[in-house]
Amino acid sequence: MTESKIDHVGLMIKKAMEEESSGNRNEAAKIYKAAYKMVMEIASHSTGKLKQKRLNQAASLKKIYESIGGEAVEEDRLSEGRKILETLNIEPPEIPKVTFQDVAGLENVKTEIMSKIIYPMRYKELSEEYNIEFSGGMLLYGPPGTGKTFIVKAIANEVKANFINVNPSTLYSQWFGQFEKNISLLFRAAYLLSPSILFFDEIDTLVPKRSGSESDAARRGVSQLLTEVGGLTSQKDRNVFIIAATNNPWGIDEAILRPGRFDVKIYVPPPDYESRKKLFQLKLSEVKHMGYIDYDELANETERYSGADIEFICKKAVQNVFMEVVKTGNKIDVSMDDLLQVISQIRPSIDVGLLKKYQDYILNL
Ligand SMILES: Nc1ncnc2c1ncn2[C@@H]1O[C@H](COP(=O)(O)OP(=O)(O)OP(=O)(O)O)[C@@H](O)[C@H]1O
Ligand SMILES: [Mg+2]
Repeated sequence: MTESKIDHVGLMIKKAMEEESSGNRNEAAKIYKAAYKMVMEIASHSTGKLKQKRLNQAASLKKIYESIGGEAVEEDRLSEGRKILETLNIEPPEIPKVTFQDVAGLENVKTEIMSKIIYPMRYKELSEEYNIEFSGGMLLYGPPGTGKTFIVKAIANEVKANFINVNPSTLYSQWFGQFEKNISLLFRAAYLLSPSILFFDEIDTLVPKRSGSESDAARRGVSQLLTEVGGLTSQKDRNVFIIAATNNPWGIDEAILRPGRFDVKIYVPPPDYESRKKLFQLKLSEVKHMGYIDYDELANETERYSGADIEFICKKAVQNVFMEVVKTGNKIDVSMDDLLQVISQIRPSIDVGLLKKYQDYILNL
């Protein structure tokens, strides 16, 4: 049985060589890789000297396909990156479906991101000719529900990068050395999965302002993070971007905001009048049964409501109408009244005091 498998491997190698000599390198690498896997399998059923011989053969096959490169190697790289994220309990990376068209307003945030991330990534040679430097990382801050996470997903879609969503609590560990190790592993995964965007949500919980009473583990974690960000910044050929978000910029360790670190800070404000109008239009665009809607009035009625609030209002109003339709069997349209009624029932999630806090923070930057 094993003998016939080994014969089969022989045939595969012959085929791979033929492909290679006719210039089909990608195909050749794939066949060598399949042969490698088969020899590994055979080795797992062997013992003693024979096992060692098979392992050596497998190692040579791996070297061959790795030296050819192409998709076969690419797959290994991505799957290693995915495995690391899995061990860190981070959700699998993906290229998000959200696009810039789905983002209402935030024009200056988009422009900033285009010039600091998207263009340098897209026009690498040109940016080198003009000595455009990549920033370290970018920090988005602002009230809850204003689209920070959402816009980062749109950026990842724009550059077709893997979006890696890191919730700091999954990285933290009190075991000696484990927190730093997790941070390095995370950056290794981001590199393997590149082009990628490493997104640290709620960065203030990962690197809180120093109080003098933090644990050694926490201190070492921060310093590891800074080392990794610094390492990335100095890379010319950059394909990993780091973006962090927080509601709480005044609660972050200032060391991470220095040049070469998270040195581009962007305020993500609550939606203005035009953006609120756009938000209602976007969030209702997929509903088939819409009556006449006065979007100006909706925008007027929702000052200090966040994008997330507006999304909720739309969902709730449509849900109410749907329940009515289910009850009566009568397909009615969603009306202005349905929306205004929900608006009157929920309070804006952003209050004046909070806005003032952001304004003061910006003034003191
Ligand atoms: N500018 C916007 N354009 C389109 N949708 C938005 C916008 N802002 C918020 N939303 C909607 O609100 C939801 C919540 O937004 P998101 O999670 O990005 O907010 P956030 O700023 O990250 O909030 P938090 O600070 O609480 O993490 C999004 O999934 C999106 O549907
Ligand atoms: Mg968020």
